[in-house]
Amino acid sequence: MIIIRAKDYQDMSRKAANIIFAQITMKPDSVLGLATGSSPVGTYNQLIEYYQNGDLDFSNITSINLDEYQGLAPDNEQSYRYFMDTHLFHQVNIDKARTFVPDGLEADTEKACRDYDQIISHEGGIDLQLLGLGRNGHIGFNEPGEAFEKGTHCVPLTESTIEANKRFFASEADVPRHAYTMGIQSIMQAKKILVIVSGADKAEALKEMVQGSITPKIPASILQLHHDVTVVADEAAMSKMAE
Ligand code: GLP
Repeated sequence: MIIIRAKDYQDMSRKAANIIFAQITMKPDSVLGLATGSSPVGTYNQLIEYYQNGDLDFSNITSINLDEYQGLAPDNEQSYRYFMDTHLFHQVNIDKARTFVPDGLEADTEKACRDYDQIISHEGGIDLQLLGLGRNGHIGFNEPGEAFEKGTHCVPLTESTIEANKRFFASEADVPRHAYTMGIQSIMQAKKILVIVSGADKAEALKEMVQGSITPKIPASILQLHHDVTVVADEAAMSKMAE
């Protein structure tokens, strides 16, 4: 695991964007695993800037997002599809047909999961997976549990995640209770993984992810077993790490 210390959120975002920039430059038809949440917004903004300056071309990129709330339509402002359209896809020259997000409206839960796993394998797996880190150590919506889930699955969200994500909704009652998430296996099969972590409220989770024991109670801890993980974390997030 390579750990890059960033000064603050902006610095983290620039450093992370530069890693994605390098990936796209070296392999213009990369399959990017993308994430939502507050963490990647600055990274996406930086990538948009590179695109606008003519330095980055998304025309051959495929993207496969990590997760989606169950029951939310793509045009619902809280859906992750809407988030990705707004924060990245509509601002760069990516082919919209090559952007994938789990189908939150599929009535058949099993089918939604199966379809998504088929998309991932049909696209040949993920070249670079971008990850944020949940305060409870989750990645995607792989919540703390008794076992590492393998493929795409539908999860009941924990109280801590509902609490953390309610800031995006009118009220806590509006936060969906279930979400689809890419499984740990798909994430671990990505060729490269880039984790971005910012803020003191992530310090404990980051310490456990990097220096704790590998346990499904901290899903991100499994990343210690991946051969090519880069973590870009700001000083606040790194405040609890042992030297
Ligand atoms: C959310 C998302 C994750 C995200 C994480 C951290 O619940 N499902 O994909 O990485 O929690 O979010 P944030 O970056 O807003 O702190």
